Amino acid sequence: MSNSRENWGSKIGLILAMAGNAVGLGNFWRFPYQAASNGGGAFMIPYFAALLLIGIPVMLVEWNLGRYGGKYGHGTLGPMVYLQAREGTKPKTALIIGSLAGMIAFGVTLLVNSYYNQIIGWTLGYSFLSLTGGYMDTAQSTGAVFVNYIQTPSLAITFWVLALAGLGFAVMRGIQKGIEAWAKIMMPVLYVFGIILAIRSLTIGSPVNPDWSSMKGLNYIWNPDFAALSWKSALAAAGQIFFTLSIGMGIICNYASYLKADDDVVVSSLATISLNEFAEVILGGTVVIPIAYAFLGPEGVGAGVGLSFIALPNVFRTMAGGQIFGSLWFLLLFFAGFTSAIAMYNYLVALLEEDLGVARSKAAWIVFIGYIIVGLPVALEPILTKTAELVYLTEVDNWVGSYLLIVLGLIEIIAVAWLMGDRALEEMNRGGLWQIPSWFFNLFHKVLTPAAIAILLFFSTRDYIT
Ligand code: PHE
Repeated sequence: MSNSRENWGSKIGLILAMAGNAVGLGNFWRFPYQAASNGGGAFMIPYFAALLLIGIPVMLVEWNLGRYGGKYGHGTLGPMVYLQAREGTKPKTALIIGSLAGMIAFGVTLLVNSYYNQIIGWTLGYSFLSLTGGYMDTAQSTGAVFVNYIQTPSLAITFWVLALAGLGFAVMRGIQKGIEAWAKIMMPVLYVFGIILAIRSLTIGSPVNPDWSSMKGLNYIWNPDFAALSWKSALAAAGQIFFTLSIGMGIICNYASYLKADDDVVVSSLATISLNEFAEVILGGTVVIPIAYAFLGPEGVGAGVGLSFIALPNVFRTMAGGQIFGSLWFLLLFFAGFTSAIAMYNYLVALLEEDLGVARSKAAWIVFIGYIIVGLPVALEPILTKTAELVYLTEVDNWVGSYLLIVLGLIEIIAVAWLMGDRALEEMNRGGLWQIPSWFFNLFHKVLTPAAIAILLFFSTRDYIT
């Protein structure tokens, strides 16, 4: 879809494709573990602040960058940032900013996939484990099952490579449309299953320890804890907003580049955010954290990157038909991750193809091999170190999946709000079902959003160094 400038067929198709892009493992795997590792109620305060102050304005900026760049036949971040910056500054300055954005976005997308594809593999593997009853034996803790899974190459590596091959195949065949048609069925089913699991999770009490009810787990994330606030949790929360909304790397821009010149961006951006946030805080948060709390206790919720995989099998063990239900749930997560990963894979292919002139099928191969290379350290870490700490994965996720995405957001907002300036607001509002008032743009895009990002980066970097 990258060289011929297609357009989206229908409004609903566009919104669902965007939702399929945004809703992924970020919502069901990353959000619960980030929230629980960063103090629960202390995480949610900066999380909502970042959603309003940074997430919404940057989402609008990405749709705007995308629709504008698409007009000139470009679908990746570097050229898009260049095109908008050029409107308000010297071409040379615009070129420097555009190149910087493009290069960081390339590296970040590649590195996010070094572990994202791994987790997609875990979901596929866990779907298989569920079906075959691989974690049903209560003699073994679900934590031990997880450790065993990531340390067993015939499981972890096999499902990772299978998932990657599926992605490569889908991208090479250009079955973008098929994926979207599939997303139309898969997304609603995911929401329905999520709601069932959320209800189950809240009614489960705690079979392990009367002090650990799932309601306490709900309280753990919904009870604001101002005392535990820190720059570190604020950075993690803002990073999660970028990750879950798919903003920063230019993936949203890419989808938006297939808009028609007068297609609305304002309401569509807000619709994408709403669908994603429902899946994240209501489903992802309610399903995983209370269950983790009920079975693993207050200490166990901080289990880190494996949290969803350690918590959920406990519920399937106790449910009638748990094997089938568990298998379907992990398969749904697999597809949710797949539709996001497709967006990223396509983006890298588009970057090689459109910006660097590599033929499409060759580009798809290059990305595939690149994914294997960058993914190997993540896959091999638990096998070689014989531990399940996943330190490397966690660090890469923090630096690339939080920090650098935020840096990219700052570059984008500077190019649009400062360099292109008021023309950007006009551009953003063109064809809009609602209009963004200029006070909002002047207050948020020009001042509050860049200031919030800059302050966040400054203090969290300082805390990290000292
Ligand atoms: N938003 C996706 C998720 O929540 C991940 C993603 C991030 C996809 C960045 C594209 C770009 O899983």
